[in-house]
Amino acid sequence: MMFTTAARWPAVFLLLSALCTLFVPAVTVKHENFKTCDQSGFCKRNRQFADDAAASSWTSPYALDPATITFKNGQLSGTVFKTLKEGEAQVRLPLTVTFLESGVARVTLDEERRLKGDVDLRHGSQARKERYNEAGKWALVGGLKVADGAALSEKAEAGYTKVFYGDAGKHQAVIRHAPFGIEFQRDGETQIKFNDRGLLNMEHWRQKVEPPPKEEEKKEGDEENKDEEKTEEKVEEKKDEGPKGEDESTWWEETFGGNTDSKPRGPEAAALDISFPGYEHVFGIPEHATRLSLKTTRGGDGNYKEPYRLYNADVFEYEMDSPMTLYGAIPFMQAHRKGSTVGVFWLNAAETWVDVVKSKTTANPLALGLKGHTDIQTHWISESGLLDVFVFLGPTPQDLTRQYGELTGYTAMPQSFAIAYHQCRWNYVTDEDVKDVDRKFDKFNIPYDVIWLDIEYTHEKKYFTWDPLTFVNPTKMHKHLDKRERKLVAIIDPHIKNTNDYPVIDELKKKGLAVKNKDGGDYEGWCWPGSSMWIDCFNPAAITWWKGLFKYDSFKGTAPNTFIWNDMNEPSVFNGPETTMPKDNLHHDNWEHRDVHNINGMTFHNATYEAMLERKKGEIRRPFVLTRAFYSGSQRVGAMWTGDNLAEWSHLEASIPMVLNQGISGFPFSGADVGGFFGNPSKELLTRWYQTGIFYPFFRGHAHIDTRRREPYIAGSPYTEIITQALRLRYQLLPAWYTAFHEAATIGAPIIRPNFYIHPEDEKGFAVDDQLYVGSTGLLAKPVTKEGAESVSVYIADDQPYYNYFDYTVYQGAGQHTVPAPLDTIPLLMQGGHVIPRRDRPRRSSGLMKFDPFTLVVVLDKDGNAAGTLYVDDGETFDYQQGAYIHRRFSFDGKRNALTSTNLHPRATVKTDAYLKTMAKVRVEKVIVVGAPKAWKGKSQVVVSEEGAKESARKRQVGFEYYESSGKKAAWAVVRDPKVAIGKGWKIDFS
Ligand SMILES: *[C@@H]1O[C@H](CO)[C@@H](O)[C@H](O)[C@H]1NC(C)=O
Repeated sequence: MMFTTAARWPAVFLLLSALCTLFVPAVTVKHENFKTCDQSGFCKRNRQFADDAAASSWTSPYALDPATITFKNGQLSGTVFKTLKEGEAQVRLPLTVTFLESGVARVTLDEERRLKGDVDLRHGSQARKERYNEAGKWALVGGLKVADGAALSEKAEAGYTKVFYGDAGKHQAVIRHAPFGIEFQRDGETQIKFNDRGLLNMEHWRQKVEPPPKEEEKKEGDEENKDEEKTEEKVEEKKDEGPKGEDESTWWEETFGGNTDSKPRGPEAAALDISFPGYEHVFGIPEHATRLSLKTTRGGDGNYKEPYRLYNADVFEYEMDSPMTLYGAIPFMQAHRKGSTVGVFWLNAAETWVDVVKSKTTANPLALGLKGHTDIQTHWISESGLLDVFVFLGPTPQDLTRQYGELTGYTAMPQSFAIAYHQCRWNYVTDEDVKDVDRKFDKFNIPYDVIWLDIEYTHEKKYFTWDPLTFVNPTKMHKHLDKRERKLVAIIDPHIKNTNDYPVIDELKKKGLAVKNKDGGDYEGWCWPGSSMWIDCFNPAAITWWKGLFKYDSFKGTAPNTFIWNDMNEPSVFNGPETTMPKDNLHHDNWEHRDVHNINGMTFHNATYEAMLERKKGEIRRPFVLTRAFYSGSQRVGAMWTGDNLAEWSHLEASIPMVLNQGISGFPFSGADVGGFFGNPSKELLTRWYQTGIFYPFFRGHAHIDTRRREPYIAGSPYTEIITQALRLRYQLLPAWYTAFHEAATIGAPIIRPNFYIHPEDEKGFAVDDQLYVGSTGLLAKPVTKEGAESVSVYIADDQPYYNYFDYTVYQGAGQHTVPAPLDTIPLLMQGGHVIPRRDRPRRSSGLMKFDPFTLVVVLDKDGNAAGTLYVDDGETFDYQQGAYIHRRFSFDGKRNALTSTNLHPRATVKTDAYLKTMAKVRVEKVIVVGAPKAWKGKSQVVVSEEGAKESARKRQVGFEYYESSGKKAAWAVVRDPKVAIGKGWKIDFS
């Protein structure tokens, strides 16, 4: 959450409003609080560079000296020289191109002089001198094994070095020496080009030349005027490098919103153009409130004028359809066309801007066979650090998500409660309030699993304490919730109140574990508690200390059913530049905050995850920690939500592409606040939001402190009933969701999937981002996001039959289909060809469903076949890592007229057997066949056989009912209680 109004925070408000203008209540985002590219020196310089390069016959001054090239163990090394003005020494940039076994290539470019520490820092700074080179240490966990097979091409060609790599040498990197550039090819066809437009720009270290005294005097004058004049004056001098040189006004110091960045290392940007020839769509680089298919960012009708920005920030009342930065950053982009998906991962944690331009070449009628095509040109600009890019050549979307996951880790398998419904608000005000809300859910028969506490539960915003007046008996509250297997999530933020009588801040200071200011003292800023300091989780000692704070005897009043929410970890600093930390702050090992900013939130999130693992010796449960800030790798330790949205239809609509984008970008455990955080949703909007929220992998209702209560039972009839139905649908499908999470955890697949991911050959559907598929289940939802809607138009990509989930109405044929969607109806279809696992018994929480029987919905495709999978484990411990799980494949073979369950578990262990024993009595209680063949009409029994059954029971007849098709509704059939075990092999014969 972010700021509230003045009334509730008088002290903070008065103090801060004197410091800056952040606190004026507003209805829209305060643009003036966040930089535009033009206000961010390095972005402006590099955009100017791009414009100049396009306007002139520009040649990039970077050249790879062929004499320096060596190739060893799958890695090419060499030196790229940047030529400055005549007579000046060249800048030496060490290059590596590493070819990985996975078929991914990695390119790094460093700067020798900074690397050697042969530079001077200004202001006596203690900061590190080299370009930041540890992003990989935090983001990468695997996939770095080099390819033994990678080889330099034997055919020497003037001006190029070629390397064959990837599966059967299908990939080729063509490295051009001068100007330096790389083309990545698959099967001889170029997919990705580096420095094709000559925008490579490594801002090398240089000594500051003090401006003439005239300029000095101006410093006394008006800030803005000074900047303008200075820029103008410099225009003439811009001759030394770049197409027209660089604008020096922001090299050494930058002031924004009253904060001055001392920039002790001077300019240090790393920028590169990356082109995708023949591609029309690029996706990824969350987090932005924008469409899935990224827009052009350099102006024009309906396009953006600003680049997509990645600089984790607490953006108050963020706006829709915007490239503005938000709370998290994943610099992974994928380009998609028919037959090919490729991508890049820009491993850099500093402030980053990405321009996207689509360049269309129209068909030339004179050149036969030359079709018109579109190229996507991107321009990546980071403020500091190494240039470090991974290149993925696909060719499928599945290859990309798997390979990216191999590098940065897959989604942590959550506890099963974590994918059920979460009820949050700022704030449930007392422990009695919590119990009361809990009782009301029960009274209205509404399922929920988790209730949340925002910051007000603490004693004066001191984390790890409870307000003694309002949360009198937290232990009793936890016990109350545990009766129905429910959990409590409490918020813990990274800012530590700077006050007396608070052991946590005393220890933080005494142990020296806080983030430091540029002079090496403990950095102090403002956040919820007022004056605060921030734990520096880049410091291993800080993580060790943090772990201790969560032990039950340290964080008293918590219990095994307490879990944690990390908010404000961008970090949000109310009086800092752009609501975050000064860039010249120092972290562990003297890295500047500038270098690590986008990773900061992840280190804190990770530390909390680690702490939750060690609350008590021997009690090992999968942690659940929600984060707002994130980076590549955050998926390994928890879930994210899209921050402080508004109770408006546009925010409901935007949540779908945002969550889809999280999915294909490796962090699929995501969701938006149901109902909208700020403002009061109408009952209709709230209802539609629940009907949408049941399709977010992370499903939580949340509301701002100034809003009215809106728990599902409050809206009244018919809204409460309709919302309850939506919640029940989520609970009914939990087995399918859990299976989708297992796919995310093992192969990096998104949990909800956009059209292009399921139908990569369907060009018309590439940009479709307002409907979604749930895992591999074939469930296709098109949530209603428009007020007063009575129907929706669902896009169908293929010629399979799609059945309405509720009444089996058939929709078939590629194109748009109108599906009824009055308020009480959720537009949900089932693609033919799947088996969907469910649990149909209504319960109060998911924990109470643990041993419930299953229903299988067999949805036949146009050829009469279907298949699906189910993954189940104890939903709680890590025993699944030792084999304690059930993984089945169900398939219906239309020719053989039989449904079978086969084992997907690769090899049973002692733990597998023990787990199977606990699940021995859990059965399939119903099989529904949708699109049932006519030949089944009149049949009243089917034959069931199960592995390991006693001879006498080996073949059993069980009851069967057939329902004829009527109108557009498909025929269907039900097998009543076949009583086959969910963990065993079996067959149901329909012939
Ligand atoms: C997470 O914490 C572990 C244990 O302290 C540490 O080894 C690891 O580097 C941390 N990872 C991140 C991304 O912070």
